[in-house]
Amino acid sequence: MKKLTVRVHDDYNILIERGLLEKSGELVKEVLAAKKLTLISDSNVYPLYGEKVKKSLEQAGYEVFVYIFSAGEVSKKASVVMDMVEYMASKNLTRRDGVIALGGGVCGDMAGFAAAIYLRGIKFVQIPTSLLAQVDSSVGGKTAVDLPQGKNLCGAFHQPSLVIIDPDVLDTLSSHFFSDGMGEVIKYGCIKSSELFQTLESCDIRKNIDEIIYHCLDIKREIVEKDEKEQGERALLNFGHTCGHAIEKLWNFENISHGEAVGIGMVLISRAGEQIGITEKNTSSRIAALLKKYNLSTSDCHSTEEIVGAMKADKKNTGSEIQFVMLSSIGNSFIYPVKHDKIKNLFAIN
Ligand code: GLY
Repeated sequence: MKKLTVRVHDDYNILIERGLLEKSGELVKEVLAAKKLTLISDSNVYPLYGEKVKKSLEQAGYEVFVYIFSAGEVSKKASVVMDMVEYMASKNLTRRDGVIALGGGVCGDMAGFAAAIYLRGIKFVQIPTSLLAQVDSSVGGKTAVDLPQGKNLCGAFHQPSLVIIDPDVLDTLSSHFFSDGMGEVIKYGCIKSSELFQTLESCDIRKNIDEIIYHCLDIKREIVEKDEKEQGERALLNFGHTCGHAIEKLWNFENISHGEAVGIGMVLISRAGEQIGITEKNTSSRIAALLKKYNLSTSDCHSTEEIVGAMKADKKNTGSEIQFVMLSSIGNSFIYPVKHDKIKNLFAIN
C-alpha cells in the first residue's frame, strides 16, 4: 500500500491501493473512535460501491446511516448541506461521531462542509471515486457549496481524518470523466514536475495510474503543508483555473467539464506568458499536445475578449488585481499579479 502523511495541524494519511474499498471499515476504525457514521454518497456512486463500503463499516462495529443526494453539480448548494446536517441531527450523531464521503468532488466538498458545520465540526473521511477527486479535491480540506453568485463561494477549511483511494473504482469511470481528471493531473506536471509531465507524454498512464495518483498527491501534500489556508503557494494549484472558471461560466457550467475548461485555461495563460516573454517558448504547444493525447480540448469557441470579461466579473477576482499562475517553463510556476486595467495587455486584446 502506498501511503502519504499530510502534516497539518492534525496530521492525516492518504492510503492508495487497489481493493481498499472493502477494507474501509478497518481503516476508518484506526482514526475514528465514533459509534455512528453518516455515509454520504450520490445517486450514481452509491449503487456501485455504497453497499460494499457500508458493509465494511458495519463489520468494523459502526452504526451506519446513509444519505444519498441526486448526482451532479446542481445539488452542490446550501439547502442540500442543511438537509444533510438535519439528517445527522435526526439520527442523534454526537461530536464523537463522523461522516464518510463516498463519491466524486461534489460529494467530498458537500459532505466535508456538512462535517465542518455540524456541531461546529466533526471528523470525516474521504473515499474519492473520480480521478479528479482522487488527485485533487479529496486532499487539502477545501469544502464548499456553490452560491447563485458563483462556485464554491460558501465553505470552510476542514481537513479529513483519512483519505482512502482505491484506483479500482476508476474502471467504472467513463472516458469523459477520466479525461476530466486528467486536466488536473497535467496541471501538477505543469506547476511542479517536468518529470511527471514527461511521463504523461511518453506512457500509457492507465497502466500506471496508481503511481500517477501518488505523484500528484505528493505534490499537493507538500503545497498544503506549506500553505494550508491558501495565503500564498497553494494558489499555484489554481494554474489554468482563472481562465478555466471564466470559460465554465460562459458555458453556464453545462456541456464543458472542469478539467476541459482548466486545460484550455492552461493553454491560454501559457500562450500569454510566452507573448510577454515570461514563459519559455513552446510551453503552450506542449501542454496542448498533452491535452489532446488525453482527449481534452485546447481551445474554446468564446473569444478572448469574452473570456477576459467573464474573468473580471468573477466574484473571486473583485480586488484591484488578479493573481494569475504562470509557468516559467514546464514544472516551474509562480504567481503573477496583474492589475485589472492591464489584463487586456496580457492577452493582447484591445
Ligand atoms: N484544488 C485546489 C486546492 O485544493 O487548493
